[in-house]
Amino acid sequence: MAIRLGDTAPDFTADTTEGRINFHQWLGDSWGILFSHPKDFTPVCTTELGAFSKAKPEFDKRNTKLIGLSVDSVESHKDWAGDIEDTQGSALNFPIIGDEDHQVADLYDMIHPNANDTLTVRSVFIIGPDKKVKLTLTYPASTGRNVDEILRVLDSLQLTSQYQVSTPVNWTDGGEVIIAPAISDEEAETKFPKGFKTLRPYLRMTPQPNK
Ligand code: BEZ
Repeated sequence: MAIRLGDTAPDFTADTTEGRINFHQWLGDSWGILFSHPKDFTPVCTTELGAFSKAKPEFDKRNTKLIGLSVDSVESHKDWAGDIEDTQGSALNFPIIGDEDHQVADLYDMIHPNANDTLTVRSVFIIGPDKKVKLTLTYPASTGRNVDEILRVLDSLQLTSQYQVSTPVNWTDGGEVIIAPAISDEEAETKFPKGFKTLRPYLRMTPQPNK
């Protein structure tokens, strides 16, 4: 069954390029991003894995661990790593799961048979420190993901887990946010001391509270 927002991220034990891991133990108290790519030694995947490796310091700053997956073997991932470093200028610096038996791909519904009946699609699962799924994304093999967008949604998820706000269209870190409609104006005055603008009773904008 498909994994839905708010579900507990299914736990598993699997071999990776950094040894055998138990997923929940490996996550510890961190946020986590589990993402699949269709196949090793393919062009778009090579660019994605290079870009995620390059951005790892940004994920570290956000207390977020990355882990990749495809239905290739750990040996194949390790062989491919040289190509990623040579062509993308960034060495692989997080584990990739070898999922030849589709154990994890099936658990996370990463194979979409009407797209391809053997390869994983480009799935992204963002998991909170409580092990609940906070966000899912699915891209086809032909479309590479955008690392900046994944960092942007991570910023929003982390902010909105701490403050009673939501983030508007095209928000990026540092932009104005929306006060939760359930909060009264009186409460908002104490919770958001930088002030707020009321555009409609349900649409009140305030500067990002943690900046
Ligand atoms: C790619 O990464 O370019 C790719 C992988 C699998 C199928 C098609 C394209």
